[in-house]
Amino acid sequence: MANTTLIKASKAKNDEFYTQISDISNECSHYKGHFKGKTIFCNCDDPYESEFFKYFALNFNHLELKKLIASCYIGSPIANTQLSLFDHESVENKTTKHPHRIEIMEMVEGESSNERGLPLVEYLLRNKKNALTRLQGDGDFRSPECVEMLKETDVVVTNPPFSLFREYVAQLIEYEKKFLIIGNKNAITYKEIFRLIKENKMWIGRMPMGTDMLFNVPEKYEKNFLENKREGSAYRIVNGAVKGRSQACWFTNIDHKKRHEEMILWKKYTPQEYPRYDNYDAIEVSKTIEIPADYSGAMGVPVTFLDKYNPEQFEIIGMSASAGYNAEIVGLEKNSKFKDARPLMNGRNTYARIFIKRKQ
Ligand SMILES: C[S@@+](CC[C@H](N)C(=O)[O-])C[C@H]1O[C@@H](n2cnc3c(N)ncnc32)[C@H](O)[C@@H]1O
Repeated sequence: MANTTLIKASKAKNDEFYTQISDISNECSHYKGHFKGKTIFCNCDDPYESEFFKYFALNFNHLELKKLIASCYIGSPIANTQLSLFDHESVENKTTKHPHRIEIMEMVEGESSNERGLPLVEYLLRNKKNALTRLQGDGDFRSPECVEMLKETDVVVTNPPFSLFREYVAQLIEYEKKFLIIGNKNAITYKEIFRLIKENKMWIGRMPMGTDMLFNVPEKYEKNFLENKREGSAYRIVNGAVKGRSQACWFTNIDHKKRHEEMILWKKYTPQEYPRYDNYDAIEVSKTIEIPADYSGAMGVPVTFLDKYNPEQFEIIGMSASAGYNAEIVGLEKNSKFKDARPLMNGRNTYARIFIKRKQ
């Protein structure tokens, strides 16, 4: 029992990381045409605190949105670091004891924008076309009323709870929604997520995977970081504010230019430079930029290859990241002499590898 609680707590530890508007704006700027005339749903987002909601509300006209919806979960605590806009509201209003949804149909700017001194939500609700409504249930993205909102949505954009990432993505796929979401890089190695990547039903967004993503965090996280964690690994201090670090990246099924850029391959294959694995019929390529131009067989490349993955240039065959052999994920037949499922070279483990082939 105690163990299960510990596992749950550790899985949920990044569930309250709040995305910075600079990261949202940088990523969303690459998909502008895909938002035009569309209904956008941020379904893990308290409109009083979410920078996703703020970004889409403030850019409602610029992006030519049809509608913006945000709904929030009952458990969402106040993120003090993000509430500068709403500072004069009472704490009672800011909490999500009563989960709600907000629907924005119109953002009137111009003359009335001098009223922007108001909290954004309050400002938007002056317009009778917009509405804030209490939810019947707890605001869980899987609840029937949230699913109803999802059904009327064109594009879902948010940073969902990391601990529910598999279920979250499965629901988007089930309802055939376009999405642009943040997730932990480790999710790539989840069987269900990797399958979608392999089948080109989901890919990495524009932000390079190596980017050090920082998030706003609730006060209780700040305290824990400062007291128990190492600066630089779990958190960083930026302009005096504590920011949580997470191995996160963007996942999407919306096409973007980078996905069609061809990688220039310049290295020639030699058996010395590209040794074979002991247990798989593939060669080891330890750096993505060194993929040989003239090798047509299977190659094991670092997971960050996905940053450069162009489906017209390469085919993803499989992936091996952990000790358990799952033929569907590995994608290659294992030499039965070896117990270890991870790619081995001279008996030693290599890192997690994605297996790819060049397309002719
Ligand atoms: C990683 S935080 C991100 C919040 C916000 N989207 C952002 O990026 O700033 C995930 C949010 O999902 C909410 N959440 C947790 N479980 C949920 C659920 N089952 N359904 C909907 N939201 C949930 C949490 O309260 C939390 O605010």
